[in-house]
Amino acid sequence: MIRRVLGVLLMALLLGGCERGMHDMYDQPKYKSLAPSPLFANGNSARTPPPGSVATTAGEAADSSGGRRGALPAARSIASPTPLDEQGRSLAQGDMGGRAASNPLPLTMALLRRGQQRYDIYCAVCHGAAGDGDGMIVRRGFPAPPSYHSERLRNAPDSHFFQVITHGYGVMYPYADRVPVHDRWAIVAYIRALQLSRHAPVYQLDASDRAQLQASAGANR
Ligand code: HEC
Repeated sequence: MIRRVLGVLLMALLLGGCERGMHDMYDQPKYKSLAPSPLFANGNSARTPPPGSVATTAGEAADSSGGRRGALPAARSIASPTPLDEQGRSLAQGDMGGRAASNPLPLTMALLRRGQQRYDIYCAVCHGAAGDGDGMIVRRGFPAPPSYHSERLRNAPDSHFFQVITHGYGVMYPYADRVPVHDRWAIVAYIRALQLSRHAPVYQLDASDRAQLQASAGANR
């Protein structure tokens, strides 16, 4: 019995040691919260977030190493000041934060182009240019994401994609710090376009697309 207790104590000590051993990120030159700094004119090390900053954490856990324990629920993740769109207009808070099931931004060619550009920068490396989940990083060994063309993801609401970009998903890292709110919705719009590129119902095609389809169907016969 005593041996078992000692064994458990030893395990606890050893495991505690693992945590201690991985403190490189903690033991580095850095400012503690609210410490003074000679670097800035007002003598504060803490900087005022620029307008449009999106808070992702709050409360006492917000400055914990990952900040994750203080993560805000998506609907409240937009802090004041209200984020602005590219023309400097304020964006409605709740909707932009991903509470709305569908994309709150008007669907324009400009939005899709922006989404395509951001998607190619941030997502295609893993998800593949067409969304098949076969990007270069995956071909080099990163776990493969599901295809956007699966039944489940075609039926998922726009907000699901927004939330995945904001908070990450499984082994996928969150992109909230690199992809601002407006761009997240632009990417969501573009992913919808990728999905439609393979699953558009014929009645939604315009006359010229339909003619092209008929011609190619004829050619295949
Ligand atoms: C480093 C590789 C990588 C990058 C970059 C990446 N993802 Fe992912 N993504 C993954 C992996 C892997 C999964 C599957 C995660 C799991 O199931 O554990 C995933 C899953 C997803 C899913 C599916 C969630 C579900 O319901 O199954 C969506 C949607 C998604 N990612 C969107 C994006 C978007 C949008 C971007 C760009 C902003 C992006 N991802 C960037 C690797 C990546």
